Amino acid sequence: MSVKLGVNVDHVATVRQARMCNEPDPVIAAALSEFAGADGITIHLREDRRHIQDRDLRILRETVTTRLNLEMACADEIIEIALATKPEQVTLVPEKRREVTTEGGLNVIGEFDAIKTAASRFKAAGIRVSLFVDPDAEQLQASADTGAEYVELHTGVYANQRGDAALEIALRELHAGAEKAHLLGLGVNAGHGLNYFNVQAVCRLPHMYELNIGHSIVSRAVYVGITQAVKEMKQLMNEA
Ligand code: PXP
Repeated sequence: MSVKLGVNVDHVATVRQARMCNEPDPVIAAALSEFAGADGITIHLREDRRHIQDRDLRILRETVTTRLNLEMACADEIIEIALATKPEQVTLVPEKRREVTTEGGLNVIGEFDAIKTAASRFKAAGIRVSLFVDPDAEQLQASADTGAEYVELHTGVYANQRGDAALEIALRELHAGAEKAHLLGLGVNAGHGLNYFNVQAVCRLPHMYELNIGHSIVSRAVYVGITQAVKEMKQLMNEA
C-alpha cells in the first residue's frame, strides 16, 4: 500500500495574509488538492494566526471530504477550538512565536501531563491524536505513554542534510524511530521539509502511513498549478 499524502495548505494562507485580503484561498487549494489525489488536508492554526485563520478551519471542516488534520500547540484556546470543530485528527506540535516554521519535535517528556490530558480529551471526543516528535527513543516511549495513537516523525533534520553520508545517518535515525514507534503500537507519519527530491527515501522507511507536505507543493504550485503539483508528488510517492 502506498504512503498517504496530507497536503498542508498553510502557505496558501501565508500569501493571502501578506495582503490581508481574500486570495489565494486555502479552501480552494484544499479542494483542488483533494481532486488531484491528496489523501488528507493539513492546516496549522497557530496561536498568532499568522497564516491559517479561524474562518479557514471552520469552512474546511465543512468542505474537506478526505481527512482534516489540525496541527496545533497544546494550548488551552486552541484545544477548545479543536474540540468544538472536530477535525478527524489533531497533531500536537511545539510552537514558538518567533520561529519561521516549526523547529524540532515536541518535548513530550517535559510536557507529559499537559499532553496526556489533551490526548485523552481528544480521544474521548473521537479525534485521532498524533504527536510531532524527533526520532528519539525516549520521546517515542513518552508519546506512547500519553495514549496518542500516532506520531509524526520530524524529517527536518534529514531534509537539511547535505552529502550522502549525512543523509544516510539522518535516514538511519528515522528508520530506527519508525521501527521503535511501530513496536510501541504507534502509527507512523512523517513530515517537515520534504520535497520532490527527498520524499522517496522517506516513503521507503518501514511502517510509514502518511507524509504531511506543504511548502514544496505550494511553491511548485506557483509555477504549474496546485493540481499538477499534488499529482506529481503523489506519483513520486506511489513509485517509491
Ligand atoms: N508537519 C508538521 C508538524 C509541520 O509543522 C509542518 C509545517 O507546517 C509540516 C509537516 C509541513 O512542512 P513543510 O511545509 O516543510 O512541508
